[in-house]
Amino acid sequence: MSEHLIWDPLMIQRYNRSGPRYTSYPTAIEFTPASSDEDEIEALSHATDKPLSLYLHIPFCAHVCYYCGCNKIVTKDKDRAITYLDYLLREIDMKAAMVESNGSPKRRVVEQLHLGGGTPTFLSDEQLTKLVNHLTSRFTFSESESADYSIEIDPRELGPNTLKTLRDLGFNRVSFGVQDVNLTVQKAVNRVQPEEMIIDVMDNARALGFRSINIDLIYGLPFQTLESFTDTLDRIISMRPDRLSIFNYAHLPQRFMPQRRINDSDLPEAAEKLAIFGMAIQRLSAAGYHYVGMDHFALPDDELSSAQQQGKLHRNFQGYTTHGECDLIGLGVSSISQLGNMFAQNYTDLSQWQSAIDNDRLPTFKQRQANHDDNIRKHIIMGLLCHLKVSFADLDTRFDINSKEYLKDELHKLAGMEADGLIHIDDATLCITDAGRLMVRQTCMVFDAYRHGSDNKRFSQAI
Ligand SMILES: C[S@@+](CC[C@H](N)C(=O)[O-])C[C@H]1O[C@@H](n2cnc3c(N)ncnc32)[C@H](O)[C@@H]1O
Ligand code: SF4
Repeated sequence: MSEHLIWDPLMIQRYNRSGPRYTSYPTAIEFTPASSDEDEIEALSHATDKPLSLYLHIPFCAHVCYYCGCNKIVTKDKDRAITYLDYLLREIDMKAAMVESNGSPKRRVVEQLHLGGGTPTFLSDEQLTKLVNHLTSRFTFSESESADYSIEIDPRELGPNTLKTLRDLGFNRVSFGVQDVNLTVQKAVNRVQPEEMIIDVMDNARALGFRSINIDLIYGLPFQTLESFTDTLDRIISMRPDRLSIFNYAHLPQRFMPQRRINDSDLPEAAEKLAIFGMAIQRLSAAGYHYVGMDHFALPDDELSSAQQQGKLHRNFQGYTTHGECDLIGLGVSSISQLGNMFAQNYTDLSQWQSAIDNDRLPTFKQRQANHDDNIRKHIIMGLLCHLKVSFADLDTRFDINSKEYLKDELHKLAGMEADGLIHIDDATLCITDAGRLMVRQTCMVFDAYRHGSDNKRFSQAI
């Protein structure tokens, strides 16, 4: 069906269970409440030359999309951004000072910056400029071709000069949230945005020289049919984004209040959803898109595709990335940092986040120190998701173990998947086959020490 994919609906139905998307291992639900910010301070101050990746979370949205499962605050009050920005700059100051406290100010270079949300363009052009100028005064940013400076954009929340302002500030990648161009679907999820608006922002971003443009779509939304989503996809393909994320709608109304406004009876049946995703893979493949993995597709000349070919692809909290060798510093409410073996998540509650900063404390809510076993399993899970294989000899030398003995139980559990042709195990490697690519999460879950027999209902299904 595609260069590296076999579509087998019956096999998918058999294996399609809920599970983590593994943007980290251990996953964020294994983080535990932090009694103090000391461990994070130590991790930030650690003397190393490792490059940095900065993630800044801007939680505000002017409107609510009923399907949304993101960490956001819906408000029309633009003044809330003033206070938020003030606190965010203070958090930047605190963390930048700690990174520098190892004696060589500004030694560590920022190779990646991502503004996510919520809706980062809830901030005005002046506020975005103030934020980026503040960051560049506190950190050294790489000027290399490969540096990645990106932002998530809701096309409805874009001032006439915002894209130009962002480009002038150094952003070189944009991601547009679209979800679906069908009006009935848009109305049902309270996100009406005309197709012309999307074409317009795409053209504008291209003309300004953004080097990679991503579009987010969601399948499984109310009133979507195979026919309607085929039409949506054809329209999007004709806009030729460099990357496409086609997310499976995670409908968890008990967790996300706005989803209660979506009637279960309006959602497409499981068989229709499966047909939609099958069609998407087929059409994107025919249009020349490479299937990177999970929900991600990219044109062959996009960095995501070339990084995968060269074995340089990584995964972090933003999904697939070309800069996995960085320490990640999260800034803003709910953001997550990954510093060496340490994960630290900020308060998800705005007032708790502010109160910590008011008290000159890092706003650390939860944390987790990865141990030796976590690192072995992380290496396997990320290897399977990014490179579709793991080498036993590499595991042995990297972690000083006899990996086949260490993973005896897991390899035994994989016998069924191997018999079904989803994986292949030989003396040297464990590989994901073309037939197993869409079930890769299921293979990963076998190596997840925290998933055995636990409740996976809080996670979404692969398809
Ligand atoms: C923070 S939003 C993107 C930026 C901006 N707020 C927007 O909506 O355009 C991140 C993306 O998550 C995806 N998303 C949100 N809720 C989801 C859900 N319940 N299931 C699957 N994908 C979801 C959407 O595709 C959305 O574009
Ligand atoms: S999808 Fe984007 S704009 Fe819509 S509510 Fe979620 S974060 Fe806000």
